[in-house]
Order: sequence, then C-alpha cells, then structure tokens
Amino acid sequence: MLDYAIQTKNLTKVYGKGHTEVTALSDATLNVSPGELVAVIGPSGSGKTTMLTTIGLINEPTSGNVVIDGMAVANDGWIPGLDMKRIRREKLGFIFQAYNLIPFLSAIENVMVSLSLNGINGKIARKRATELLDKLMLERVKDNYPSELSGGEAQRVAIARALANRPKVILADEPTAALDTANGKNVMDLLKKLAMENNSAIMVVTHDSRMIEGFDRTYEIHDGRIVK
Ligand SMILES: Nc1ncnc2c1ncn2[C@@H]1O[C@H](COP(=O)(O)OP(=O)(O)O)[C@@H](O)[C@H]1O
Ligand SMILES: [Mg+2]
Repeated sequence: MLDYAIQTKNLTKVYGKGHTEVTALSDATLNVSPGELVAVIGPSGSGKTTMLTTIGLINEPTSGNVVIDGMAVANDGWIPGLDMKRIRREKLGFIFQAYNLIPFLSAIENVMVSLSLNGINGKIARKRATELLDKLMLERVKDNYPSELSGGEAQRVAIARALANRPKVILADEPTAALDTANGKNVMDLLKKLAMENNSAIMVVTHDSRMIEGFDRTYEIHDGRIVK
C-alpha cells in the first residue's frame, strides 16, 4: 500500500450538544501523498479550520479516522495511549494566519525553540535555524524581535519555525491572509519550495484563489462537506 502523509476516513467534528450542536465537518475522506500540495477552499464558516485542526491533533474528532505518516491517531476520537504532543511536534508543522511568534524571542530564537523541543540544541540548532532563515531571505533580520519584523518577514519566520523539524505534514490556515498580494505570493512560493525540498505534504486553507497556482489538488468545502 502507498504510504500517505495524511489519510482521513469519514472525519467528522460536532461542536456543542443538543440545540447548540454544530456539525462543522462531515464525513471528510481524503488522502494526501508525501510532497503533495493541497489547497482547501470554501466560504467562511464552512469548516476549513476544523478540517485542519482535526487532522492536526489540535481538535479531537467526533468520529472517523485519521492516519498521519502511517500512524493511526484517531478512530472515533483520539486513540488512547498516544502522546499527541509528541506526534504533533515530530510529524506536523503548523502555520497560522497570525504568526504566533513568541514576542520576547528573536526571529532565530523562535526557530531554535522549535528545534529544542525535539532535542536539537546548541550549535547544531543555531546552524540549522540560520540555514533556514537564509533560505527564507531573513538573514538581515534574524536577530530582530517579532515587533521589529514586517508582516511578510514574520510569516516567513513562522514558516521557518514550522519547517525546522522537517515535518511530514505541514498545515497552514490562511497563511497569506494578512499580507498584500506580492508578499502573500512570495510567502506561498517559499513555503512550496521548502516543502518540496523536504518532501512534506502541505495542506493550505486559503480564501484567495490567486494563491493556489501550482497546487496539485484543491478541495472545496461547503457546510462541512467536501463538495469538489
Ligand atoms: N470551538 C467551536 N465551538 C463551537 N462551534 C465552532 C467552534 N469552532 C468552529 N465552530 C463552528 O463550526 C463551523 C465551522 O467553523 P470553521 O472550521 O472555523 O470554518 P472556516 O475555517 O471555514 O471559517 C462554524 O459554524 C463555526 O461557527
Ligand atoms: Mg478558518
């Protein structure tokens, strides 16, 4: 059997109970191969973020299955006994709309923290973080604090942080939404290039169809269902 980076079967997420119940994601079944670039589009409130967070072990699924890099992680809820934090740290890289950088650490330190969580410290961590920041054209600002970075720079640091551990799966939720078109395109191009170098699968939620040029596939989602 082919080893997929992401496999889901009938993935479903219901928020709330009784009269406040909302089925945010309904029976999402999909496979993403290593190195594949997949976009997720759909109107606001259609379940895009829920799809990403249930795949990404942030949000526990109500039912259905999730397999990440060959490891079953959810089967009608998270599989008991797994160290979800560790799996998240080792296999997944997240990029959010708001960069979520640690404000009191410099750009390079933000990347080094992510390496340190996986046991990579000291000179090796600094070297790897520097290489990554160089590739993202951030060598000039690597010692700046997040408040001293432009939006495009901050998002590129967030990419460096998400990719530092060469995750099998990269999940990005509207990563270019806060950027102008030129910066957004630049960020998306760099993200694609680095993910391809690592043979990572990427799933990107986006509002902006201009950003999905060169993607292998697009899923369209409406009212929690994949419609295309
Ligand atoms: N934590 C939550 N609790 C209750 N309802 C939620 C929660 N998160 C999202 N929802 C609801 O689930 C639906 C899908 O939301 P979301 O996945 O954020 O959509 P999108 O990212 O496409 O805008 C919406 O109706 C939203 O109101
Ligand atoms: Mg969303």
